[in-house]
Amino acid sequence: MPQWLRVVDALKAPVDADVTVKGWLRTRRDSKAEGGLSFLNIHDGTCFDPIQVVATGALPNYAGEVAKLTTHCAVECDGRIVKTPKGGNEIQASAVRVIGWVEDPDHYPIQPKPHSMEFLRENAHLRSRTNTFGAVARVRHCLSMAIHRFYHERGFYYVHTPIITGSDCEGAGQMFRVSTLDWMKQGSRDRGIEGLPPQAPVATGSTRSLDPACLDPFQHDFFGKETHLTVSGQLNVETYCCALSRVYTFGPTFRAENSNTSRHLSEFWMIEPEVAFANLHDNATLAEAFIKYLIQAVLTERADDMKFFDERIEKGLLARLNSVLEKPFRHLPYTEGIKILTDAATSGKAKFEYPISWGKDLQSEHERYLTEQHFKQPVVLMNYPKSIKAFYMRVNPAGTDGAPEDTVAAMDVLVPGVGEIIGGSQREERLDVLDSRINEMGLPIKEYWWYRDLRRYGTVPHAGFGLGFERAMMFLTGMQNVRDVIPFPRAPKQAEF
Ligand code: 4AD
Ligand code: MG
Repeated sequence: MPQWLRVVDALKAPVDADVTVKGWLRTRRDSKAEGGLSFLNIHDGTCFDPIQVVATGALPNYAGEVAKLTTHCAVECDGRIVKTPKGGNEIQASAVRVIGWVEDPDHYPIQPKPHSMEFLRENAHLRSRTNTFGAVARVRHCLSMAIHRFYHERGFYYVHTPIITGSDCEGAGQMFRVSTLDWMKQGSRDRGIEGLPPQAPVATGSTRSLDPACLDPFQHDFFGKETHLTVSGQLNVETYCCALSRVYTFGPTFRAENSNTSRHLSEFWMIEPEVAFANLHDNATLAEAFIKYLIQAVLTERADDMKFFDERIEKGLLARLNSVLEKPFRHLPYTEGIKILTDAATSGKAKFEYPISWGKDLQSEHERYLTEQHFKQPVVLMNYPKSIKAFYMRVNPAGTDGAPEDTVAAMDVLVPGVGEIIGGSQREERLDVLDSRINEMGLPIKEYWWYRDLRRYGTVPHAGFGLGFERAMMFLTGMQNVRDVIPFPRAPKQAEF
């Protein structure tokens, strides 16, 4: 019996080994040789390259089956490993068994020709069969493993933070509601989807009637309070940080913002480390080591896929990634960044769609100008205006970096090709300052009682950040749209699969 090898192993097997490979046909090329001769490219997803199987007319099912194989037919091939003139492995077939035919091959959506990314998105259930999406899937896996390895090697504990949450981490309110109340039955649709209906809906399957005087309809909801899908695991992971010192979470997060851009998803994955007894500088150092580790991992472990991305998706990708490894990231105060941007705009060196000035948040075009045009390397932008950042970020001493107004110890890591890839900060560990931030931002302070407890019982300076997993994928592969680096993208009006 020949040994069943994965294609990745068959490509490295010794000459004359008798093997079986199982996979799908990528292409079939026929030669004019008398009696019949076909070259079948077979792949099983275990690596970028397929293996070539040479099938001759001597096979009993050659004319009846082999010569009729089309793209993505499933086959099992037995044969002997031989060398190609270029020195690679191919298989001289002794048997080709067809396991699954492709129905109506002319109308099979994934033909062996280039397809647009839009077309492949509409066929997300089949796009994993293409070179590009196979490579994306393998790099995504490699990156996930490298992430856990990076933190594990540095003594961080992996904490599973909840997906359903009762608090709003970023305080921006762009969250998906989680509810078992029957909102439709109450005609909430007629009243408009946004906001609460004036009268609470009735819980599904419940005969309980509502007290009309009840001001909090959610007390009748599944959790007895208003709940949402989380936008970030940070607040929960901070509780473990203040006990285990170094922790991280890596899970799905959800944002209901209506942004139809190439960088935003409604459901994306985020890696959030949190470190006790650490400040903003320590945070930036960790972020840089982390990004460089991930670059190393994909370059060494997925060289085949990375070569494809370099040749077919972004020319010069490998040179760009290698150059990021070579020098330290540029640290830049927000205040200085704004000066560079306003100077560039007034001198005509740059044309921005959105005007920029101190106190405003950077748009993608500003981030990209700094990292792609001005510095041509990753930039850690630090100490943002207090007024544009989340309540939990530590307030800096007045006049930090010569800023005209109060700033917080926030940092964003900006990288060429993507812009913001990481957002993070040192956390406000002083209860009185935290409370005044929560109040001045109009957030419901009662809801944050447990987060405030961390500041009441043994508070410590601590810091952390969130790396957007899909943004990291874009940076590492050169893929242009965030919807093409996640298997099944969720975006406004997009949840088919
Ligand atoms: O900057 P953000 O909003 O930061 C936080 O959520 C913090 N609580 C993280 C922390 O300090 N633990 O998001 C972090 C990163 C962004 O830099 C970006 O890479 C990614 O998450 N991100 C998105 N990725 C895809 N689609 C979206 N809609 C994203 N929003 C943020
Ligand atoms: Mg951010």
